[in-house]
Amino acid sequence: MGFTHIFDHPLIHHKISFLRDKNTPSPQFRQMVNEIAMLMAYEISRDFPLVKATVETPLTTTECQRLADQSVILVPILRAGLGMLEGFQFVVPTACVGHIGMARNEETLVPEPYYHKLPAHVTEAHVIVLDPMLATGGSACNAISFLKSQGAKDITFAAILGTDIGLQRVHDEHPEVNVYLAEKDPILNEHGYIVPGLGDAGDRIFGTV
Ligand code: URA
Repeated sequence: MGFTHIFDHPLIHHKISFLRDKNTPSPQFRQMVNEIAMLMAYEISRDFPLVKATVETPLTTTECQRLADQSVILVPILRAGLGMLEGFQFVVPTACVGHIGMARNEETLVPEPYYHKLPAHVTEAHVIVLDPMLATGGSACNAISFLKSQGAKDITFAAILGTDIGLQRVHDEHPEVNVYLAEKDPILNEHGYIVPGLGDAGDRIFGTV
């Protein structure tokens, strides 16, 4: 059964206060998203598998542990998920990156993948899906379903803000997926925005407000 991990860390609370502030300009917003992603990646990587490596120090030969090659794939959901990518890559530079673009089907109103490019070893790797906002859970669930259809077996979802509705939906539809949220908010309004929230994450990351 998958779990929800909600961070309770002073640095994360501090940085999220700047994301929530409507007066935070886009460059600072983007910087904060990446810094939060970096702190999240540190915790999410706690159980990453290690392999033995033999290393020559300047003095002797010693056995060390390293992350297994190609063991992690980061998958930002376009476009807001891109905002978290650099922070994760800073902590796990060996991770490969896949992309999924999700857009709402205007007939069914269901978000569907319109673009994808995934590394071939998605079937073997630990896949971490990045999207700053887990609102209704629609995009998250459909992105996860798509990754499963491509053979992904080990999937984690990471968002900065989420709601109980989004969490419930992910856990109902994908009970084996672990979800990490930097903070959880109480309300999803009638327009699908998280409240108090931070507005449209993609617009604020890319300055399209
Ligand atoms: N996506 C956003 O960017 N913001 C929200 O509040 C909800 C979904």
